[in-house]
Amino acid sequence: MIDSLVLYCRAGFEKECAAEICARAGALGADGYARAKPDSAYVSYHLHDPVAAGALLADLRWRQLIFARQLLFAIPLVAELPVGDRITPLLAAVDRLHTSISGPYADVWLETADTNEAKELSAFLKKFEKPFRSALEKAGRLDTGKTTLPRLHVFFLGSGAAFVAASLPGNASDWPLGIPRLRMPRAAPSRSTLKLAEAFMEFVGNRNAGDRLRAGQTAVDLGAAPGGWSWQFAQREIHVTAVDNGPLDKELMAGGMVEHVRTDAFHWLPKRPVDWLVCDMVEKPARVAALVGDWAAAKLFKEAIFNLKLPMKKRYEELENCRAIIDGKLAGAEVEAKVRFKQLYHDREEVTGHIRLLRSR
Ligand SMILES: C[S@@+](CC[C@H](N)C(=O)[O-])C[C@H]1O[C@@H](n2cnc3c(N)ncnc32)[C@H](O)[C@@H]1O
Repeated sequence: MIDSLVLYCRAGFEKECAAEICARAGALGADGYARAKPDSAYVSYHLHDPVAAGALLADLRWRQLIFARQLLFAIPLVAELPVGDRITPLLAAVDRLHTSISGPYADVWLETADTNEAKELSAFLKKFEKPFRSALEKAGRLDTGKTTLPRLHVFFLGSGAAFVAASLPGNASDWPLGIPRLRMPRAAPSRSTLKLAEAFMEFVGNRNAGDRLRAGQTAVDLGAAPGGWSWQFAQREIHVTAVDNGPLDKELMAGGMVEHVRTDAFHWLPKRPVDWLVCDMVEKPARVAALVGDWAAAKLFKEAIFNLKLPMKKRYEELENCRAIIDGKLAGAEVEAKVRFKQLYHDREEVTGHIRLLRSR
């Protein structure tokens, strides 16, 4: 029976991930406690009463979680796996999982945490995958490729212990370890470009990109230099006003899609509303939240993506404070919007925010 959740996160953000899941699960009436070892890159959340798992399965949304890269529903840890035969106890665990989340499963992913220490297990995982997969196939537990089915995850803490868990279609990351693999475009002026590329995938999605990111639109990029984020728009033939006192990449400027405004982004406003606002300034998060909140209240964009560089301490609290600043500005102006935050893989000490204004009725 499902009695716990396993959440992957960025190493160093276990405390924030734990605080968030305790708050979210608690609000759904599924009280429990979190185990969060510093720098382990995952958190497990254990229910006081496994009956409450039903509420989590029904209503806990992976997309609403800020610090979780992946959300798995798990049965109690399978420990002391015998070296000579790990398959038998793991298959028995899959049987137990099956009573709560029935298969067949769309696939099986053998994973470890995203830490150098855990990566030492990757040779073992590679070797173990083939026989384990064929044992699952023989037991009728896999129907590979059917994306409407749950996916099976075996999350190894060491070669002798693993969580056997499932992720639900549409309520989980579709990338192993929750890490999107993006290729660095050669022409982009900075590696930062990958942050915005990932943010578009997360907040717009490939399915909607044709409609919400299209040639002829307009964008403003606050804190743009050297131009990795502006490049994302320029290569989609979206006109960008890039605001920064620093220099922009020459090739980017030569493309003719970017206008460079050398000024302080906190004292500049566009003449008319734009489709997109993006902001990647190294600034106090509350100051950035107030800035994008003011733009939203004045309906100066349709969608915004911005980075909040979190402090070393009280990061979860600071993020809640930023959310309250934005909500306050929106409410004051009676503007309706969807606001969401996610710590993306390409984020480091920061979190990416997204605001989408809703059409007024
Ligand atoms: C992290 S870099 C941006 C990188 C950029 N997104 C890219 O992909 O190449 C931050 C930029 O913000 C700019 N910046 C910081 N404070 C600013 C302000 N008040 N007004 C305008 N630009 C600012 C800095 O000059 C710097 O170029």
